[in-house]
Amino acid sequence: MKKRILVLTGGGDCPGLNTVIRAIVRAAHYSQGIWEVVGSIQAFNGVLNDPQEILILDNKSVSGLLVKGGTILETTNKGNPLAYPIQKSDGAWTTVDRSEELIKKLEKLGIDAVINIGGDGSQRISQTLFERGVNIVGVPKTIDNDLSATEYTFGFQTAVETATDAVDKLVSTAESHNRVMIAEVMGRDAGWICLYTAVAAGAEVALIPEIPYDIDKIVEKLNKRIKNHRGFANIVIAEGAKPKDGTVVGYKSDEVGYEHIKLGGVGYKLMHELKQKTDIDMRVTVLGHVQRGGIPTAFDRILATQYGIKAFELVEQGQFGHMVTYSQGFFGSTPIKKAISEYKNIAQDNYLLCCARQLGICLGD
Ligand code: F6P
Repeated sequence: MKKRILVLTGGGDCPGLNTVIRAIVRAAHYSQGIWEVVGSIQAFNGVLNDPQEILILDNKSVSGLLVKGGTILETTNKGNPLAYPIQKSDGAWTTVDRSEELIKKLEKLGIDAVINIGGDGSQRISQTLFERGVNIVGVPKTIDNDLSATEYTFGFQTAVETATDAVDKLVSTAESHNRVMIAEVMGRDAGWICLYTAVAAGAEVALIPEIPYDIDKIVEKLNKRIKNHRGFANIVIAEGAKPKDGTVVGYKSDEVGYEHIKLGGVGYKLMHELKQKTDIDMRVTVLGHVQRGGIPTAFDRILATQYGIKAFELVEQGQFGHMVTYSQGFFGSTPIKKAISEYKNIAQDNYLLCCARQLGICLGD
């Protein structure tokens, strides 16, 4: 009898998820037919739901997935089996731990190993399930690139390409109108997309969560570039950026089971702050989820493919409780517990950050 791997995608989507799925299925297919792969729809919900939603993933079903954005397995950030949202008879919502039920259902489905493709939230779930006896392997996913155990997460490069393309376009309209264009990009706790985009597109100002900004420093930079309403400038700001002594712009979501604060709008806040101190024309563009969609770049396809193959190898070797990693050209693994213990923020001595300073990019400090 064949051994079974269950694959799932959890948390926010990103380009390259399908590429990882394809790589796992292909590797399983060509591994002397010992393994077969099934997918759970919408993270663990596919297993928990009644009727269950389980997809057979054979070699043919993953054909062409390499370049397809999103995830054929769908995803959710509202299906945490450890704190599953349920509605009480009075209409109020509460959460219950469904992990015991999940484990029983995995056994009934004949699952020998689980590959959980997801960010820090999903990998926290992986760790707890591992501690409760599930043979689980993690694949890191986030466009924010903020997982400390790995140099690059797939989807990040694609997001940077998308954002750079957008800022390139904003540059030409900024120049025509003698305006300041503010582009708000994703980046909840870490400003990697913002920093990479600002350097790649030649922006004048880059504002990241790691460096709370001083509005006067930005005004100073703009005034140097724009005299008597002639000249232009481009600002890239991460959604998680905040002013000195200020807070992030966001709100508590009313979506059931959604655990994060929803960020967005800091670009507008910045424009209002700047408008108090200068009368330069300004416009704001919030890129939002466009950064999470579309075809993965070749770099991300290759990275995602190698992550998928490595995850399959970890399963073959029985190295459970580990997450695949990429560091200095090598693919390896690290205990999930360690991988989720810290974020990868941009350090003050990060070389690209130092380069940005040397290029005269204002970082708001
Ligand atoms: O974590 C990745 C991310 O893209 C963040 O930058 C962003 O705040 C969040 O996802 C938005 O997620 P969603 O809108 O899917 O809840």
